[in-house]
Amino acid sequence: MSELAGKVVLVTGGAAGIGVGIAEVLAEAGASVVIADIDAAGAQAQAAALASRGHVADWLPLDLADEASIVACVAACVSRHGAPWGLVNNAGLQQRQFLLDGTAEFWDRTHDVNARGPFLLTREAARAMVSAGGGGRIVNIASAALIGSIINGLAVYTASKGALAGLGLAAAMELAPHGITVNTVLPGGVMTPGSMAAGDGNVPAEGPGRRRPALGMCEPRDIAAAVRFFVSPAARFVTNQTIAVDAGWSVS
Ligand SMILES: NC(=O)c1ccc[n+]([C@@H]2O[C@H](COP(=O)([O-])OP(=O)(O)OC[C@H]3O[C@@H](n4cnc5c(N)ncnc54)[C@H](O)[C@@H]3O)[C@@H](O)[C@H]2O)c1
Repeated sequence: MSELAGKVVLVTGGAAGIGVGIAEVLAEAGASVVIADIDAAGAQAQAAALASRGHVADWLPLDLADEASIVACVAACVSRHGAPWGLVNNAGLQQRQFLLDGTAEFWDRTHDVNARGPFLLTREAARAMVSAGGGGRIVNIASAALIGSIINGLAVYTASKGALAGLGLAAAMELAPHGITVNTVLPGGVMTPGSMAAGDGNVPAEGPGRRRPALGMCEPRDIAAAVRFFVSPAARFVTNQTIAVDAGWSVS
C-alpha cells in the first residue's frame, strides 16, 4: 500500500543520521521525498540511493542558518514538484557545551539552525501548502531531552528544542484552519554522526540520558515510524501532539 503516493515531503537533514531513516521510510510509503541539507553531496547521494531502489527522490541544498537559502529551497521544491504535502524539520545541531562555559556565539549558532531555521522553513512551506489548498503535514524533530532524558552540556540545545516545541504548538493553532497539522517527535538516543561527535571529546556524557533504555537503542527508522504516522493522510485529525520514541527510557 502506498499511502503517501504522489505526496511531496521535504525532509531536512536527510543526508545523514535520523534524516536518512525518515527519507527511506517515507519513500517506501510512496512519498516523493525531497532531501534538503547543507551537505549537498550527501543529500544528492541519499536521493540517488533511494532512486536506485525505485523510489521517487530529489535533493536541494539548504542552509537553515540562512533565510535566503530557506526561501530558495522551498521555491525550488515548488517549481520542481509542486507545493509540499509534508515538511519534516529534522536537521539540527547537537553539540554540547558546559553551561559554565556558555557563550552567546554557541547559543546563536545552535538556535539559528534548530529554531530560527525551522521557523522560517515552516513559514515558507506553510505558505506554499496554503496556496495549494490541499492541507498538509508538518513534523518537528525535537528531543527526549525535553522530558528528562538529558546529559550534561545540553542547556543550549535543550532550550533550542523547547523553542521548536513551542513553535509547533503555535503553528498547529494557526494552520489548523488550512487543514495543516503540526506534530512533534522526541527521539531518544540514536547513534548518528551528529550524536557521536556531540561532546567533541571535551564534554563527557553524564546524566540520566545515559541510562540504557528498556527496549535497547533506537535506530533512525524507529524515529521515522512515528514521523510516517503523523505525515499520513489518516492522521488528519491529529495535531499539536508529541510522541517520544525513546525505546522505553522512561521505564528503564
Ligand atoms: N541522534 C540522537 O541521539 C538524537 C536524539 C534526540 C534528537 N535528535 C535530533 O534529531 C535530528 C537529527 O539528528 P541526527 O543525530 O541525525 O543528526 P546528524 O548530525 O547525524 O545529521 C544532521 C543532518 O543535518 C544536516 N544539517 C546540519 N546543519 C544544517 C543546516 N544549517 N542546514 C541544513 N542541514 C543541516 C547535516 O548535514 C546532517 O545531514 C536533530 O534535530 C537532533 O537534534 C537526535
